[in-house]
Amino acid sequence: MADHVDRLGEEHPPIPLDSVDYTMKRPGLLAERFGSVLAYMSRVELEVERNVIELNILLPDPPEVDQHFYADVWMPQETHHGLILDRLQVLAGLEATTPNLTEVSFRLKLLGALGRVGAVQDVSRMLYYLTGLATERSAVLAYNKLHAGMLELGERAVARTVVAPIRRQEPGHFAYYQIAARGLWSQLGGWQKWLVRTLRRKTFGPVGAENKQQRLEFGKAIRSLGIVTGDDADLQHYADQVGRVEHELLWAHRRGLRVPKYVFESFRRAAHATADLDGDHQPARGRA
Ligand SMILES: [Fe+2]
Ligand SMILES: [Fe+2]
Repeated sequence: MADHVDRLGEEHPPIPLDSVDYTMKRPGLLAERFGSVLAYMSRVELEVERNVIELNILLPDPPEVDQHFYADVWMPQETHHGLILDRLQVLAGLEATTPNLTEVSFRLKLLGALGRVGAVQDVSRMLYYLTGLATERSAVLAYNKLHAGMLELGERAVARTVVAPIRRQEPGHFAYYQIAARGLWSQLGGWQKWLVRTLRRKTFGPVGAENKQQRLEFGKAIRSLGIVTGDDADLQHYADQVGRVEHELLWAHRRGLRVPKYVFESFRRAAHATADLDGDHQPARGRA
């Protein structure tokens, strides 16, 4: 695993900010089509800075390899993703993002305090890996769709120098969490596994969608990307992909249960929140 992290760091330095060509053919149309995606993704990528503060609280005594990954490899990469996407949306005439970089929730501080007990910290660490898995898988899917969407709009420079380089860095993050999650799960005891399952079921949600406003933004983003088109079959397909590894690890022993239902439900809540807002099932029109 340490080798994987070293390799990620060497092969994927943060994308140089001056390597990006922001030339847009029709910035207005781009903003209309993908404004909500840029708003959501730029915020979530930049909020990684706060996530690292949270991790330091959550895991007072982390394995060295985890710390090396999130502080030296993951955060610098994601921060550049955020800076680039934010610059793109501003150049397209949209508002800059206002990420929450510092404010950590009470719930997290409480978990951090409990985490001083080693066995509890292992549960927190497992939750961290599972969150990472779902988030990075969602990122890969989103950037695939966004890349195709930009090409469809004829925005070749943006597709090639913004979305493609970002997209290339996400699978390595996913792979890291996958190795880490499999390793740790096999070491957890019965009560720890029970606690992980219970907490996931109760707290699963899309990353960066904590309040109503943010859930709405997320819902708009997945609709703009065409991940959700109005019927539950798309949503189920998306949830299957995002929850696949979590399902295998946590729930596969229970026959008949497909992807964890809470994954599907959380996406459906966000998608339906947007539909209610629009009063219909038209694709989101992006941010004004
Ligand atoms: Fe990213
Ligand atoms: Fe990532």
